[in-house]
Amino acid sequence: MPLLEATGLFHYYGAFRALNGVSLTIEEHQFVSIIGPNGAGKTTLVNVLTGLLRPSRGAVRFKGRDIVGLGPVRLARLGMARSFQLVNIFPRLTVAETIAVAVVSRLGRGGRLWSSLTDDAEIRDRVLEVASLFGLGDKTSHPAGALPQGDKKLLDVASAFALRPEVILLDEPTSGVSTGDKHAIMEVLVQAAKRIGIKAIIQVEHDMDIVFGYSDRIIALHEGQVLADTTPDGIRDDERVVATVLGKRTR
Ligand SMILES: Nc1ncnc2c1ncn2[C@@H]1O[C@H](COP(=O)(O)OP(=O)(O)O)[C@@H](O)[C@H]1O
Ligand SMILES: [Mg+2]
Repeated sequence: MPLLEATGLFHYYGAFRALNGVSLTIEEHQFVSIIGPNGAGKTTLVNVLTGLLRPSRGAVRFKGRDIVGLGPVRLARLGMARSFQLVNIFPRLTVAETIAVAVVSRLGRGGRLWSSLTDDAEIRDRVLEVASLFGLGDKTSHPAGALPQGDKKLLDVASAFALRPEVILLDEPTSGVSTGDKHAIMEVLVQAAKRIGIKAIIQVEHDMDIVFGYSDRIIALHEGQVLADTTPDGIRDDERVVATVLGKRTR
């Protein structure tokens, strides 16, 4: 059974067709990148795959179970998490508090966040463990909003990892950081995924150095359709992908 399977996804915003028959299957041990020009439907697809957006038509199954419209909290309990850019939403939470939100929700101890963090040794340990995995171990008391951009991105991803998901979806984990920092973030992310035992990573990414440097598989979207779904070498050799997505960049 595939981990994640989408079949015949269509999505309309009014009369505009943003997804036009997308099907895909994600197996274990895959790092998959979704690429495509602006407006291709990448964010719509991720929102449908993570149960946030109910497609106009089509099915999404996670571990064989229909997850259409399930919502992020129940989906996280099933084993799928995505980055939510929490750091942008709660800039005054500290690093530890930001990660604790995710840990507490995973352990089903919502409602006692603040006392959990001070009184609950298990939660404190988990928070520290995740912070350390992402190189934030000595910044747990810093406000998230005051972190450098690279650390904010790491914290965003760390919060999703704290849910201990089997599958993780990341929307541009390295956007807005310098080229050097991008690779550092990806290295940390890949190592943390190994340590935690994440079975598949799916990311939307614009930076082709990152896409080609880390992906086992690349899905190119264009006008709501899958243009190509293959290995990085296969993508480089696909004339339609080169014409519509890659341009002259890789040639
Ligand atoms: N809420 C919305 N209402 C109307 N049109 C939308 C909405 N969200 C996205 N779209 C349109 O759907 C298309 C796909 O958007 P999106 O999935 O965000 O693409 P991408 O992430 O690849 O840039 C775009 O043309 C966009 O303008
Ligand atoms: Mg988008």
